[in-house]
Amino acid sequence: MTTTASKVFADRIGRIEISATMAVTAEAAKLRSQGVDLSDFGAGEPHFATPQHIKDAAVEAIHQNFTRYTVVAGIPELRQAIVNRHAEDFGSNYAPDEAVFTSGGKLALFCALQVLVDHGDEVILPAPYWVSFRDIVQYGGGKVVLLETSEADSFRITAEMIEKAITRRTKAIILNSPNNPAGAVIAPEELERIVQLAHERGIYLLLDECYVYLQYTGVLVSGGSFTDCKEHVIVLGSLSKTYAMTGWRAGFALGPKPIIAAIGKLLSQSTSSATSIVQRAAIAALAGSQDCVAEMRADYLKLRDRTLNRLAEIPGITCTKPEGAFYVYPNVSQYLGRPGARTTMELASRLLHEGRVVTVPGEAFGTHEHIRLSYATSHDVVEAGLARMKDFFAKL
Ligand SMILES: Cc1ncc(COP(=O)(O)O)c(C=O)c1O
Repeated sequence: MTTTASKVFADRIGRIEISATMAVTAEAAKLRSQGVDLSDFGAGEPHFATPQHIKDAAVEAIHQNFTRYTVVAGIPELRQAIVNRHAEDFGSNYAPDEAVFTSGGKLALFCALQVLVDHGDEVILPAPYWVSFRDIVQYGGGKVVLLETSEADSFRITAEMIEKAITRRTKAIILNSPNNPAGAVIAPEELERIVQLAHERGIYLLLDECYVYLQYTGVLVSGGSFTDCKEHVIVLGSLSKTYAMTGWRAGFALGPKPIIAAIGKLLSQSTSSATSIVQRAAIAALAGSQDCVAEMRADYLKLRDRTLNRLAEIPGITCTKPEGAFYVYPNVSQYLGRPGARTTMELASRLLHEGRVVTVPGEAFGTHEHIRLSYATSHDVVEAGLARMKDFFAKL
């Protein structure tokens, strides 16, 4: 049999790589299966169990046989719960048809980018960035325009910096505050300026607010609060970290009705709706008591401080103080350039195999002098893991 196709893979699959954080998780899992005891600061996922009332809602949905297809964008009560939660916490004014529920925040981001970005369009992305942003833009044929930030300035992002990066081809800007991997938070007044700038220039601002409830600055800020400019704002939300629901796959997008409808169209030809049972659980999470969120945030704050204190005891390592999320992003440049540790990739690999500590190399996030540690783990793991790191670096 002959075929006219000359190659197996479509160009678009060649434009992306497997997620680096997932690669690290796989390597660590392999070692663990061989009986190696690891201190795990790799994957960014809460160590807490999903709160009981959320689990109960899912079990009840099963018992009630709420197990059929639902409307693609999510059942009306859920879309209402999403906009209510956002309005109550951030003063936004979205209507239910300006919300779509997806199987995880990553899918909301993926769909939003596929819906908006065409071949050759430029998308501004500050570095360090979460691994998936770059690949998802490239998958859709877009061109990533990286925006350098300064570690000395706590990876600060300003409207002025963004304005300088805008060209005729700029279609979108991706911001992630608090950010993964450095825990950097965009100052509220700066965020407002950026939202206004994007609106004035007709550029779409994609705000990944996966960690929006994990801000330690005393105020919770969302880009969706600036209601006068919301025509160009797409908020990407996730229940994964907020409610310790990573495996449930629960996320959403809030934005202008036509864009939300287009995301729904893409979902209708791919995943269809998110799982019916998860939708009921998500209502319980969003409409129920938010005490669990505050409790988890309080513990993350203690974990952050403990992690920073222990890191400070390792000679030669410096670290900016994260204002949100559950990551620290220490600078390990003092240890780089030696044989077997020329890059953070090599250093993280040695730290894993020799030090028995799981971290993610900064190369995955677009910088070359850092490693990322997720402190979403127990206080005991932080103590034991950082002690191992101290030993490892002392011998390096
Ligand atoms: C910045 C950022 N956005 C989105 C996600 C994806 O979250 P979800 O589990 O909802 O797909 C993550 C997960 O690590 C993340 O760090």
